[in-house]
Amino acid sequence: MNTNNNADKKRILVIHGPNLNLQGTRQQNVYGGMTLDDINAAIEALAAELEVELRILQSNHEGEIVDAIHEARGCADVVIINAGALTHYSYAIRDALSGVGLPAIEVHLSNIHAREPFRHESVIAPVAVGQICGFGPSSYTLALRAAKELV
Ligand code: DQA
Repeated sequence: MNTNNNADKKRILVIHGPNLNLQGTRQQNVYGGMTLDDINAAIEALAAELEVELRILQSNHEGEIVDAIHEARGCADVVIINAGALTHYSYAIRDALSGVGLPAIEVHLSNIHAREPFRHESVIAPVAVGQICGFGPSSYTLALRAAKELV
């Protein structure tokens, strides 16, 4: 039974960055075979179970992601973000996250620390509450559970 009023529900924005739309077809040995739709369905099912409100977007464009983070102010309580390769160099996304001051959870399908050296650094990590990586699609569901506990 849903015991929460909508007004009490935690609002969570999930952002998938560049190339995540290729999920299920690219480098399956690294990222697995689930499509982005499959991953989103799993996140949505868990959101219903946890009684949180969810908005999901995917963009291949840094500026669009910055805009979405700005727009999250006032309509999201937590941001879950897999910024893809932008993780490693986008000071604009980092500044957007610290600028809006919303708690952010950084997510990666793969274990970025076990891959090429350029992936070891995340410029987003210092402004995130924490980072979850290496669990495939479960990185997102773990992040959603963590988001539910935040604030
Ligand atoms: C990724 C890891 C990044 O290094 C890479 O550029 C991606 C996906 C991940 O989910 O494992 O696009 O963020």
